[in-house]
Amino acid sequence: MSIAVIGGSGVYDPAWLSQRLVREVETPYGQVEVIEGQLATGRSGWFINRHGVGHHVPPHQVNYRANVYALKEVGATQIIATAAVGSMNESMVPGAMVLPDQFIDFTKGTRPATYFEGGAGLGQGVVHTDMTCPFCPDLSRLLATVSEELGLGQLPKRATYVCTEGPRFETAAEIRAYRMMGGDLVGMTAVPEVVLARELGLCYQTLALVTNWAAGLREAILGHEEVMAVLAANAKRTTELLMAALSSASMADD
Ligand code: HPA
Repeated sequence: MSIAVIGGSGVYDPAWLSQRLVREVETPYGQVEVIEGQLATGRSGWFINRHGVGHHVPPHQVNYRANVYALKEVGATQIIATAAVGSMNESMVPGAMVLPDQFIDFTKGTRPATYFEGGAGLGQGVVHTDMTCPFCPDLSRLLATVSEELGLGQLPKRATYVCTEGPRFETAAEIRAYRMMGGDLVGMTAVPEVVLARELGLCYQTLALVTNWAAGLREAILGHEEVMAVLAANAKRTTELLMAALSSASMADD
């Protein structure tokens, strides 16, 4: 196992990596800043800030293809990606961590979402990648087990993540519709990230961090500040979980 982490909002510091160095990785889609370092067991690990250093890239403008390609290039075979989400499921409360096993894609086609553009070149021809079970059961199991071992509680392993285009939040009617479709969580980044990882044969699991009730489910009006405050309040738990999961994963096949 060679695991990389893509840090979403609120997860900017890969505390689980020592002897870090910053690598500028060239890809056919642009340059990516990858932090490389050592896990507790001495194996290599990698980290990318999804929203760039200082969080300046909004979800609809993230260079997903470059990010995922760069992680494959440096040698990662598995990706754990954190993602702030709103919850549409009463049992997934703000502050909870959830491991989605499905997604529904409501992005609008403005994000390059495939490596396979037809014709010749990098992703040659026409390829339809299986997406029946997009997320990685091994990583999901690992994170759930480690969470229980650490006393951080049971992480739900069945949840449907609805991905919206953003950067705006949803209307109350949209959330009602997504709930009727079976959505549990709503966020703006898992698609196309997971799709691209699957296209490159990488195992990918979202660690969803619930920051708020989705629009219309409570009185409060949604704000970015609220999302960031909940992430900050839970940052220690998130880091603790990632640190333990990455150490145990890297030991598992030594
Ligand atoms: N909607 C979409 N994305 C989000 C939300 C939300 O309510 N909270 C955090 N990211």
